[in-house]
Amino acid sequence: MKTYLVTGGAGFIGSNFVLYMLRNHTAIKIVNVDALTYAGNLENLASLEGDPRHVFVHADIRDREAISAVFAEHQPDYVVNFAAESHVDRSIENPGVFADTNVQGTVNMLACARAAWDDGNGGYGDHRYLQVSTDEVYGALAIPEALNADGSPADPEHADFFREDTPLSPHSPYSASKASADFFVRAWHDTYGFPSVITRCSNNYGPYQFPEKLIPLMIHNALHHKELPVYGDGLNVRDWLYVDDHCKAIDMVLASGRLGEVYNVGGHNERANIYIVRTIIQQVREATGDEAITEDLIRYVTDRAGHDRRYGIAPDKIREELGWYPETPYEEGIAKTIRWYLDNPEWVEHVTSGAYQDYYERMYAGR
Ligand code: NAD
Ligand code: DAU
Repeated sequence: MKTYLVTGGAGFIGSNFVLYMLRNHTAIKIVNVDALTYAGNLENLASLEGDPRHVFVHADIRDREAISAVFAEHQPDYVVNFAAESHVDRSIENPGVFADTNVQGTVNMLACARAAWDDGNGGYGDHRYLQVSTDEVYGALAIPEALNADGSPADPEHADFFREDTPLSPHSPYSASKASADFFVRAWHDTYGFPSVITRCSNNYGPYQFPEKLIPLMIHNALHHKELPVYGDGLNVRDWLYVDDHCKAIDMVLASGRLGEVYNVGGHNERANIYIVRTIIQQVREATGDEAITEDLIRYVTDRAGHDRRYGIAPDKIREELGWYPETPYEEGIAKTIRWYLDNPEWVEHVTSGAYQDYYERMYAGR
């Protein structure tokens, strides 16, 4: 029975990963370490109540004593480090906590794992550490000359994509902190022979995503007839990946990825932001029958500082080495996601009361 130490497992992707793993592997144990910041929510894991395969530990990844104690008590075989500050707009407002959590927290996780796993002869047995990184570390791509109506490249054969050897060129405090963490993970591998691997994924969407991110924010605002704030000209492009496809990739890379390597995750679901917003308006109106949900709600607002123009992943390496590919087309994934938000109003209500209102005011009023 293998034990996984998952950090950030009460957040969006982390909680989807915990649920995915326990659905797909019966004989595993997950120790879920999360500091429960504004983004952490144990409601995401309510369906696991009473399941002895899931143990929750309320702790901060920067806390050497607490994390060492988790290693000593649970002796994890694997670590998957999701825990992070994850929102670009918040990183522009308050970069310091991004350096603290994303860089110092990762260094602490690496140090604790190494201390626990080192066999005294430079070996680490079958242990493995996976760092969940992001495609944002590569910076931004140019928009290809010819585009489809949804913002995807009309001629993908000749378009540029992020590959694992694309030089790192982060622009936001968030992506700078994630790139820095990646360098520490690589340093641990190259210096100490530490058994690590890195995944760099594109934009995720799906159930349990906090409504500060584009898709759940637009669904939530549309349902409440609030303005839909589109940054800049709305033509920035992201490569959208349904969250379960990301979870599957992490499972596969942890099991069979080559140590010391990077695997890009995503691919071929590029869409312009304005196209996403229009899809959401149309689908939420159809699903609710609410004729007041129209494109009149769209408001173009001041652009995000340093806004990356386009992200796009070439998933060739993970497909060729591990057989992974993005299984959920955007049209299917967005329909499932909208349905989930419509079916779970109390989850949305809980996360958008209180502090969320202050955040929204600060970020959008007068923009
Ligand atoms: P999220 O903000 O929804 O969740 C982050 C989780 O980490 C929360 O549960 C929070 O409580 C926890 N956390 C924060 N600081 C902590 C600390 N100091 N100690 C312990 N726990 C702490 O983030 P997400 O969108 O689920 O992203 C998870 C990871 O995936 C991040 O590392 C992010 O950089 C990466 N990633 C996200 C995306 C995306 O589209 N969301 C894409 C690629 C990579
Ligand atoms: O690419 C992976 C990254 O995707 C992850 O590493 C990050 O953790 C995750 O937050 C996400 O970053 P983005 O900045 O791309 O996601 P966000 O949902 O914040 O924004 C998506 C696009 O939508 C971006 O171009 C900005 C735009 N946007 C966003 C918001 C919140 C708007 O136009 N209006 C908005 O209100």
